[in-house]
Amino acid sequence: MSQVAGKEKLNARANKLLKDDHDHKEVSDKLSLLIEKFNGEQIGIEYESSLADSYRNKEGIYYTPSWVVKDMFKNIKINPDYKFLDPCCGSGNFVIEAIRQGVAPENVYGFDVDENAVVITKQRIKDEFGFDTNNVKVGDFLQEAHKLKTEKITYDLIFTNPPWGKKIEKSAREKYSSLYSCGNSLDTTSLFLAASLSILKINGFLGFLIQEAFFNITTFEDIRKRVLAKKILRFVDYGKAFKGLVTKAQAIVIENNASDPQNIIECCSENNVFNRTLDSFKENPKHIFNFWTNETEAKIINQLYSIKHITLKDKANWALGIVTGNNDRFCSNEPKDDYVPIYKGSDITKSGLKEPSTFIFSDFSNFQQVAPIEMYHSKEKLIYKFISSDLCFYFDTKQRYILNSANLLIPLNIGISAEQLTMLLNSEIINWLFKKLFSTHKVLRSDLELLPIHHEYFSFHQEFTETDYLNYLQIIKTSNGTYRVKD
Ligand SMILES: C[S@@+](CC[C@H](N)C(=O)[O-])C[C@H]1O[C@@H](n2cnc3c(N)ncnc32)[C@H](O)[C@@H]1O
Repeated sequence: MSQVAGKEKLNARANKLLKDDHDHKEVSDKLSLLIEKFNGEQIGIEYESSLADSYRNKEGIYYTPSWVVKDMFKNIKINPDYKFLDPCCGSGNFVIEAIRQGVAPENVYGFDVDENAVVITKQRIKDEFGFDTNNVKVGDFLQEAHKLKTEKITYDLIFTNPPWGKKIEKSAREKYSSLYSCGNSLDTTSLFLAASLSILKINGFLGFLIQEAFFNITTFEDIRKRVLAKKILRFVDYGKAFKGLVTKAQAIVIENNASDPQNIIECCSENNVFNRTLDSFKENPKHIFNFWTNETEAKIINQLYSIKHITLKDKANWALGIVTGNNDRFCSNEPKDDYVPIYKGSDITKSGLKEPSTFIFSDFSNFQQVAPIEMYHSKEKLIYKFISSDLCFYFDTKQRYILNSANLLIPLNIGISAEQLTMLLNSEIINWLFKKLFSTHKVLRSDLELLPIHHEYFSFHQEFTETDYLNYLQIIKTSNGTYRVKD
């Protein structure tokens, strides 16, 4: 954020958030009015909208729309004796659906740290099923799960949408990570998922609605590894299911049994349904769950990684573009005395570098972020667009400066020249791979470090052409623009 927004903008935003203060007592006082006036899912919707945005974000209060909840139960055969738990039940959307699907009301359990949410859920169970439950309680699930685990209390069904990325103390995160074995995955989503797995019955089912980052970002690698050991039934992309959130909501449904490489996983995204074997995810770097690609595409990804390659991990120096902290003050749209040309991400195109349209004050000493100057002055370097779903690199030999919408890398002895590396990274097939693996709009160093660099291509070819490269990789581009591995 500091790279994109700069300090002044961040401070302004933080101050705006403070103004958006939350009076929990006032909200609680009005709850009984809401319960009188509305019913069913609508109570939760009204309650949610009575909360300040800052409070909702802090606590991760985003109640799941019923169409998503319903779909997550698809194909799960429910037995009335099953015990169901929503570890952070909110307004009860999963709890209510579990009962509608056939779980007996007395077998339904829930926790939430928000006492108002607990009141709403209990009321909804009473209104719809006439049952006064004591099984929905105020409680911090990350603590409760440990007690349940110690008492060997387990559940057949655990379905929820946990508070994504809720801020909790680092020491608490580390404590829970070691209690529930989630390694370096310390986000609340990972902690909730691992805690839930620890109290899920063998043969039981777990359904989690989670942020898209879970499926491919390094932070979640350890928890993905844990999930891979289980029988995964479904991956589903529900798109931007929450008003006001740009992040996509995606679900994972698991059966608590050991995985078999030939297990078929139903992968649903953007009106496509692909049946993929668990095996087809296993060779992905960092156990990425790229369920938006089909089985043929997964084979091409495997092929790209099976051909001898290196990666840029520990084999390049990296630097960010310059953040002035105030572009209005330090940048100009025309050349001036004491100003030097500087390039933005949008100046870097597939066909080359645009003429500079921005000039920057040549004394960088008051800027907010400047990499060691020798990085920009390197004899040869690669500069690349940072906000982009495509890879767009430019081989720079003129010691150009870049703004923070671009980044740079200087390869260290990788056996090919920086110019040759630029050609490989700009190639269509590596761009294709980047999209299929990461499905992102940001070109992150950690993702670039995972891409295969087929350096030996240049032992056989002096020039780079896409056709020669595909031949070298044993991949064919078909007439409709897709790829397949040569027989
Ligand atoms: C994303 S909402 C989802 C609510 C509900 N599961 C649903 O899907 O509609 C997350 C919920 O987690 C609750 N919560 C946050 N931290 C919690 C914790 N440590 N233990 C239990 N609930 C928590 C919030 O109050 C909020 O109701």
